[in-house]
Order: sequence, then structure tokens, then C-alpha cells
Amino acid sequence: MVEMKLVKCVVIVVFSWFMVDWSYAAFTPVDNYLIACGSAQNVSLQGRVFISDSKQSSFVLKSQENTVIASSNSSVPSPIFQSVRIFHAPASYKFEIHQKGRHWIRLYFYPISDSGHNLRSASVTVVTDDYVLLNNFTFKKYKGSFLFKEYSVNVTSNTLGLTFIPSNNSVAFVNGVEVVSVPDDLIPNQAASLSHMGPSSGLSVLAFETVYRVNMGGPLLTPQNDTLGRTWENDKKYLHVNSSAQAVTVNPSMIKYPVAVTPEIAPNWVYATAEHMENADVANTNFNITWVFPVDPNFVYFVRVHFCDIVSKVLNTLVFNVYLNSDSALPSFELSSITGNLAVPYYKDFISNSSTDSNTLSVSVGPDPVAEVTDAMLNGLEIMKISNGVKSLDGFSSAEKLFPKASLKKGKLGIVIGVIVGTSFVIVLIALCYCCSVVCRSKATHQSHPWLPLSLYGNSQTITKGSMTSEKSGTASYVSLTSSNLGRIFMFQEIMDATNKFDENSLLGVGGFGRVYKGMLEDGTYVAVKRGNTRSEQGIAEFRTEIEMLSKLRHRHLVSLIGYCDERSEMILVYEYMANGPLRSHLYGTTLPSLSWKQRLEICIGAAKGLHYLHTGAAQSIIHRDVKTTNILLDENFVAKVADFGLSKAGPAIDQTHVSTAVKGSFGYLDPEYFRRQQLTEKSDVYSFGVVLMEILCTRPALNPVLPREQVNIAEWAMSWQKKGMLDQIMDHNLVGKVNSASLKKFGETAEKCLEEYGVDRPTMGDVLWNLEYALQLEVTSLALSEPEDNSTNHIPGIPSTPLEPFDNSVSMVDGVNSGTDEDAEDSATSTVFSQLVNPHGR
Ligand SMILES: *[C@@H]1O[C@H](CO)[C@@H](O)[C@H](O)[C@H]1NC(C)=O
Ligand SMILES: *[C@@H]1O[C@H](CO)[C@@H](O)[C@H](O)[C@H]1NC(C)=O
Ligand SMILES: *[C@@H]1O[C@H](CO)[C@@H](O)[C@H](O)[C@H]1NC(C)=O
Repeated sequence: MVEMKLVKCVVIVVFSWFMVDWSYAAFTPVDNYLIACGSAQNVSLQGRVFISDSKQSSFVLKSQENTVIASSNSSVPSPIFQSVRIFHAPASYKFEIHQKGRHWIRLYFYPISDSGHNLRSASVTVVTDDYVLLNNFTFKKYKGSFLFKEYSVNVTSNTLGLTFIPSNNSVAFVNGVEVVSVPDDLIPNQAASLSHMGPSSGLSVLAFETVYRVNMGGPLLTPQNDTLGRTWENDKKYLHVNSSAQAVTVNPSMIKYPVAVTPEIAPNWVYATAEHMENADVANTNFNITWVFPVDPNFVYFVRVHFCDIVSKVLNTLVFNVYLNSDSALPSFELSSITGNLAVPYYKDFISNSSTDSNTLSVSVGPDPVAEVTDAMLNGLEIMKISNGVKSLDGFSSAEKLFPKASLKKGKLGIVIGVIVGTSFVIVLIALCYCCSVVCRSKATHQSHPWLPLSLYGNSQTITKGSMTSEKSGTASYVSLTSSNLGRIFMFQEIMDATNKFDENSLLGVGGFGRVYKGMLEDGTYVAVKRGNTRSEQGIAEFRTEIEMLSKLRHRHLVSLIGYCDERSEMILVYEYMANGPLRSHLYGTTLPSLSWKQRLEICIGAAKGLHYLHTGAAQSIIHRDVKTTNILLDENFVAKVADFGLSKAGPAIDQTHVSTAVKGSFGYLDPEYFRRQQLTEKSDVYSFGVVLMEILCTRPALNPVLPREQVNIAEWAMSWQKKGMLDQIMDHNLVGKVNSASLKKFGETAEKCLEEYGVDRPTMGDVLWNLEYALQLEVTSLALSEPEDNSTNHIPGIPSTPLEPFDNSVSMVDGVNSGTDEDAEDSATSTVFSQLVNPHGR
């Protein structure tokens, strides 16, 4: 008997367990991304684990180089706000979507005070692939201390991109992101429209933003208490007349979900509490309970009202009216006739706009005069903003306008087409070369210039002339600059002789274009010989650009091109030899002696002069596009010269402000604005030069992925210290105590201006030059003054001991401080150089 009972008991227990489990299977989101942005650790929040975005696996952060991370040491309202990811240029999280359909996108924002950025004034824009979620949000104009946003979008592709865009010259940031699947049946395709404007159907493709989700008469429900991770707040603060309503609560286990309503629609805690009429017995039929919600009147709203009769004692006694604004939504609404029982949940959806005379949306319930019992109630309410015609939930700019990724795609397409065209071009060329070489061999006289005939300098006639010249004179053949401007054409044998057959011992460096060898010409001059990789398609274009650009340009601070060789499909460029090599090797990563501050300033000034000349010296300005410390070379006297014009581009014509182009350049130096808009201006070089300045000061690479997050990108890292006025904390140890503080300050300010987010805010290279000259003046003057008293600490060999004349900015800008050599006269008047260009006479 006892055994029987036990068995029965077990059966019942097992059975009831099944009952519970099968009655409604709790929803498990297929896609469930919870991300603690900028955090090194996983963060536990309300029973859920938000994973760190530093080691992304199931999702990716694209353009991560545009972001930095920070964390707060002070107390924050929630653990998710401890860390933050800061965007100084657009960057996107990309999520793989395993099940198409509606997804929550939840965003957490808290402007932590110790991030190194003023996040309160940051201006945040967030777009998905199609929709604008947030447009130019800033905490400056916001009352709360943090911002939580919930959206739901129907994802119809296999990925979801979430792009954060900084605007108004500031950064953007985010502390936490959720992308979580929503059950398909949560949001219907249509709803009763009360406003006669906006859609009543076709909702399934639109985006929603939850603006209010309220648990009438009940407690705050956190994501822990809701199977869909939603938050429901108490309604008291929205009540129009506080004393009009009375809260009522029953045991949540009493709630009997019908087939049509599941806990995913709303948890039982929502239905187990309600507001109903205070003094329900007093027969005041002239009475409403009204909740008032401030809303943006430019949008239409999806409103869901939740009911569950937990106040009536018997069926069919409660009849009341429901209004949205002044529109009757549910007249003479008798709940029990629909549900058939008490404590059974029911909900109804409407589309409504704000009330016509105010920026609010109000919901009222009031007794119906015919009812036996004078009462009215509401259990829950959700108000969701519906995306507008430009697919925005904030303002009237489309996602495409705010983040022109369409043009980015076009850019990529352009590259692809370019590569295809380029490749076919090369194939045709190879065929041509082959034909040519056959012809040449048969004639056994002519050299061919396979690519150059295709108008290297817009004048193939000149080229032909050039190559004929080289034939006639045999070995060392100078092409007259007046006729072709292309420099000397070398024969391959000459190059072989000069470099001792490309002896590996004379290798100076290896770059993207090819290898660089040290060589010596017959007359004893040293040269640098750059031998292009013939296989690189990009190489041909860059080879041409380099010859075109450099042969047009002559300047003390630009590396001179001596000539080139294009025999036998070779792409060889011959430059003046720069004995001290790239600037970078004097900064870090080698055992070369550390440069003094004065030397560094002079190098910066030299490079700035070179760039200033590029930007302003010719009829059409030239944008270098690849300014970095490996492209600034130093000669035997440490005079800086700008090199590598393979990527340079003619600047905008007079009537244009920019050149549209596919983004090229080196990471870490790339102008964020250029990157974003693909519009190239001289100011992109100014930005890169700002990075160079920081690199020279801090002696570390522009990008160093090994460092902690916030330090990876020197531009961000150094800017955060510069903004605190503490740049000296991160500068090269070798300089500590050896730099005039005013000089350093000027230098820091100059670098900061170069690194401004927007090109218009950056100085011209001329201004940069002026400021660097000033910084040098401050340094040199202080050195000169300190000399008599102090011979040990500040003394750097080679500094003139005669005090310099007082600073006079009217002179120093162009003349330099202490040089005054003949060659510098070239810098002093770009117009002179310009006239040289117009009427070139060589050097
Ligand atoms: C964070 O959570 C993920 C997924 O649960 C796990 O793979 C990872 O190891 C955790 N990382 C840390 C730092 O705890
Ligand atoms: C999402 O949109 C597609 C049409 O693009 C539609 O077929 C689907 O039902 C929608 N899903 C939801 C959950 O609304
Ligand atoms: C309740 O509010 C609605 C809408 O504002 C209004 O039309 C109605 O007259 C009100 N009812 C009572 C009884 O005040």
C-alpha cells in the first residue's frame, strides 16, 4: 500500500512537472547577444551575463581602430556602466543573425566622468543597416544621468550591423548593447488605427522604439522577471491625478493565461497588478483615470493596453471605456465577455498619434454609465514609437544620409572594378610587352617603355623623345627637364652596376612597392634605388604617380627623384640617397641615439615645409595621402625630406572643396573624416602629420595593438593626455627634464589642432609650420638663456651658444630660425618655386 502511494505520488509529481513544463515552453531567443562594451571582463547584470567586446567571437566590431575604451573608477548606477567604448569615427558591431525576424536592440549609455573624454557633450548617432535609432543624442540636453534605449527591428538579412557615429565634432560612445530575438507573434502586422494617420497595417517591416512600458499598480519588473528581458516601470508618475487611482494586487500564480496570451506578451506580474478607480463604490460616472505621457509629436505610436480582471467578484459586472487621447478606443468594454473568466489576461493594440493640442499621449479609463459596478481598470501599457517614412526613429534624416555606406559600397565596387580593369590592363600589357620584345628583338635596336607610352605625363610625344635621347647618348642619358620633366632615364645595366647587381648587402629596406637598395652612380653620387614588384598591379599606378609627382616637384624638403628605369618591364626609381634613413628608425625600435628636442622640432619643421610646399607650391595642390614617420627621411645632416609619393593625388580644383576617392593610406594615420566621407583634402595630410607629431614626442608607433585598449591608437591616447594638459606624462623618457615647457605646450597644442575630428577645424600646413617654428624659437631661446648658468643638463651638442634674436613672428614663419642657408631661400617664397615649376630649369 505504501509502495502504491509512493508510485502514485511520483506519477503525480512527474505529471505535474510535465504539465508545468508543457503548458508553455519558455521562449529561448535564438540570437542572444549581450555585450559589455569596452569592458575587459564579462559583466553580470540582473541575472544575465554581458560578455566583453574585447575578444569578439560571435560578433565583430568593424573599424575597431576608430574606437577606444575606457572604464570608470568611480561609482556608477549599474555595473554595465563601468566601461565604455568611445567612437572617434564611425564603427559598427556586426551580428550574425541565425533567425530572421524581429530583434530587440537595447543600448545602454552612461557618460562616465573619467574616460578622458567629455562624454556628457558627446553627440551620439546610432544606425542599423536600414534604420536610424538615435540621431545626435547628447547628455548635455538630457535630464537623466544615464540613458537606456530599447528598439525592435525586423532583421531580414543574415547579419545586423549597428553603427555608432560621432557628430558635432565630438565622439560617440556606448556602454552596453543587446541584440536578442523577439518571438514572431509579439508584434502583429496590423493594429486598429485611431489617428487616421500613419500605418494600420504593414507594421511587421517597421522599426519600433519602446518609449514607455508600464506595470500599472505594480512593482518595477526588471529583465530578470520578464522572459523577454523587458523592463516594466510603475505608473504613479504618469498619473494625471494621483488620487484618482488605487492599486490592486493578487497572487501572480492566480493568473490564467489563455491560449492567445503567453507570458511573452507580458509576465504574470503585470496582470496580477492593476490600477482601478479610487472610491469605486462612489457612483461618480463623470470620472476618468488618466495617464499622460510626453511624446515626440512628429511620430505615430503603437499602443498596447493590457487587461486582466482581478478586481471583480463575479463575471459580467465590469464595463468601462478606454480612451487614447480623446479618442474612444474601447467603448463599453466588457472584459469577461471576451475572456470568459476572471483573472484571464487580455491585450489590445492601437495606432495613435499624440494628442492634437499637446506633445503628449494620454490613456484614460473610465466607468461606463450603463455598468452595474462603477469601476475601470488597467494592468499594463506599452507605447512604442513607429519609424517614419525615412526609416528613422529620431529626426528626419535617413540612415544613408547619416552614414553614407551606400557610397562606401560604391567605393569598394570602384576598387573591385579598378582591380579587374587593372588586372586586364596588366594582362594586355604583358601581351603587348611580349609582342614588343619580339619586335624589338627582330629589330634589335629599340628599347621599349611598356607603360609609359600610355601618357605617363599626358604627353607621350615627350616620352618618345626622351627614350630616343637615351638611345643616342648611350649610357648616362639626361632627359632635358624642360622637355619632359621626367628626370633621367636609366638603363637597366646602369642600375645593375650601381647596386652591384642588387646586392642584398646594399638593401636599405623593403616596402609595399618593392625593395630599396643603396647604389652609387659612376660619378660617385650615392642614390637610393627602388625596384618595384612587377607583379603588383597597384605598383604600376604608383610608379607612374611617383614619377609624375616627383618630376614636377623640386624642394629642399622633398626627396628628389633622380630618374627611373622602365626597361625590361622593370619599375625602378632612383632617388637621392638619404644617409640617415627614415625618421621612424630614430624614434624607436632601433639602437640609434635618441634625438634631442631641438632636432625633433627641426625635423618636424622640415617635413611641414615639404608638405606645405606640396599643398600650396604648385598650380594645383598635391595631397600626399601617406604621411607617416617611415615616409619622412633624414639626410646626412638630419634634414627631413618627405618621400613616397606613390599614393599622392592632385588636390581639389579651385572651385571644389575636396577630391572624392577610395580610402588609401596607413592605419593609425588615417584622417577619420576622410575615412568616413572619402573626401580627400589637404587637411587629411594635416591629420596624419598630427599623428607624426605625437609619435615624435612619445616615441611609440601610431598603432600598437599590444598596448592596453586605450593606448592602442596614439592619436586618441595622446589627445586624452593633451586635453588634460599632461602630455609630458607620456612623452619620451629621454626628453624628460630637457624640454622647455612652453615649447612643449606649443607643440602639444599644434598636434591637438592637427588631430581635430573635422578638417575645417584643423590648421593648414602653413599654420602648423608657423606654430612649430614658434615652438622651436621657445626652445632655442630657453637653451640659449640657460647656457651660461647650466652647462650640464640642457646642453645638447651642436646648439649655437650665441643667444638668438628675440622672436619675431613676421620673419620666422618662412625663414626658419637658425638656418638661413641658400637652399632655405627656396622655402621662403613658394612663388619662386612655383615660377621654377612653370619654367623649370632643374637644380
Ligand atoms: C565571458 O563569457 C564568455 C561566454 O560565456 C566566455 O566564453 C568567456 O570566457 C568569458 N570571458 C571572461 C573574461 O570571463
Ligand atoms: C519581417 O519582415 C518580413 C518581410 O520583409 C516578413 O515576411 C516577416 O513576417 C517579418 N517578421 C516579423 C516578425 O514581423
Ligand atoms: C474621460 O475621458 C474622455 C477622453 O478625454 C472624455 O471624452 C470623457 O468625457 C471622459 N469621461 C468622463 C466621465 O469624464
